[in-house]
Amino acid sequence: MSQIKIVNIVGARPQIIKASAISRAIRRYFSTEITEILVHTGQHYDKEMSEVFFDELEIHKPDYNLGVGSAGHGRQTSMMITGLEEVLLKEKPDCVLVYGDTNSTLAGAVASSKLHFPVIHIEAGLRSFNKTMPEELNRIMSDHSSTLLFAPTNAAFKNLMSEGFRPENSPPYTIDNPKIYFTGDIMYDNTIFFAGLAEKKKAKWLEKLALVRNEFVLATIHRDTNTDNIERLREILVTLKSLAEERGITFVMPLHPRTIISLKTKLNLLYKELSESKYVKIIPPVTYLEMILLEKNCRMVITDSGGVQKESHFFKRPCIVLRKETEWVELVNNGTSRLVDADPERIMQEFKCLMDSLEVLDYPGFYGDGKTAEFILKEILLMFEKS
Ligand code: UD1
Ligand code: UDP
Repeated sequence: MSQIKIVNIVGARPQIIKASAISRAIRRYFSTEITEILVHTGQHYDKEMSEVFFDELEIHKPDYNLGVGSAGHGRQTSMMITGLEEVLLKEKPDCVLVYGDTNSTLAGAVASSKLHFPVIHIEAGLRSFNKTMPEELNRIMSDHSSTLLFAPTNAAFKNLMSEGFRPENSPPYTIDNPKIYFTGDIMYDNTIFFAGLAEKKKAKWLEKLALVRNEFVLATIHRDTNTDNIERLREILVTLKSLAEERGITFVMPLHPRTIISLKTKLNLLYKELSESKYVKIIPPVTYLEMILLEKNCRMVITDSGGVQKESHFFKRPCIVLRKETEWVELVNNGTSRLVDADPERIMQEFKCLMDSLEVLDYPGFYGDGKTAEFILKEILLMFEKS
């Protein structure tokens, strides 16, 4: 078989991290069979939201950066589609990889499927069953434009079946005859690969932040529902601050630029109070190695992030989820993730329960064997052998 050409599309922070698992597996195991063209839409562009990951995770610099930047959903997505169309027409790949549920995922799926390049969706099938989330629309539309769909969990696989995808489909696979897989999660591949390295390279960094292992809480907030609705953001942050101060435990919060912008422009007084609190450390977004070090060594995670919910599980840390629902339902069913929305009472109740409980929580391996990227690439190669 001659080499196949894959266009790998990233744009937002978690996609760069996810794509690094695929890039690494191509380099290690499939470099003679696969050529990878990396395209960055430019959705995230601050150094600490993009460039740091290329350096740290040893991904080669993007072959193309569309430099789209921030804008409303329609404008941002349409600029990405326009830019991607040009790249795809020039590169003529055998297939296109998209990750997750961001506007970059949707743009990649739309641009590729309209040009009849097979779309491979990694992290397919996840559903919140809340279509007011931009991500839910992005996921559904991307899944239904895809030829190979890799579901990270059994629940995601079942969601695809209930939307009419048939596991019994046989090759040749096409957009009209797609193939679905239950694979495990490539983010788990990364965690396994980088956890030791994080300890080795960054151990001193915790000390620099004056963080004591197992004696701090890690919190992140970036979801639009929590950052654009100022009352919700205020309630969450006031609650976290009072929990930190009541307990005398440090809350470290690497905040997304979106959250910082809301704080600075609309909650300036609260921002000042948080910055002055002895027990709250608001810091800029951290690198992936720093983040996994925080996750591995914290007492508990509080977040509205999808990726951080799972990583807390990988590191056997309980997680309070600042959302009404989650796509990672197995964590909630397992009792180690607790959904609290932005309700101060529920945040406080679950925090106290998790801090004071003597119960030993169980963290089963829901997310595969750490070799998901390899599996995905083998299946992609198989598709081209059989077609
Ligand atoms: C996006 C994804 C979300 C994902 C998140 C990961 C969509 C619809 N949402 O949300 O699913 O969880 O990425 O982090 O695609 N900004 C900067 N610098 C940057 C990037 C963003 O200042 O480098 C600010 C801008 O003010 C921008 C805002 O953050 O308007 C939101 O950025 P955007 O990429 O639209 O959405 P995210 O909230 O990052
Ligand atoms: N992350 C990071 N630095 C940070 C915050 C998050 O490296 O300051 C990593 C985190 O470890 C996870 C991913 O980014 O791998 C999650 O991205 P994010 O929370 O932005 O988006 P989501 O997963 O909700 O789409």
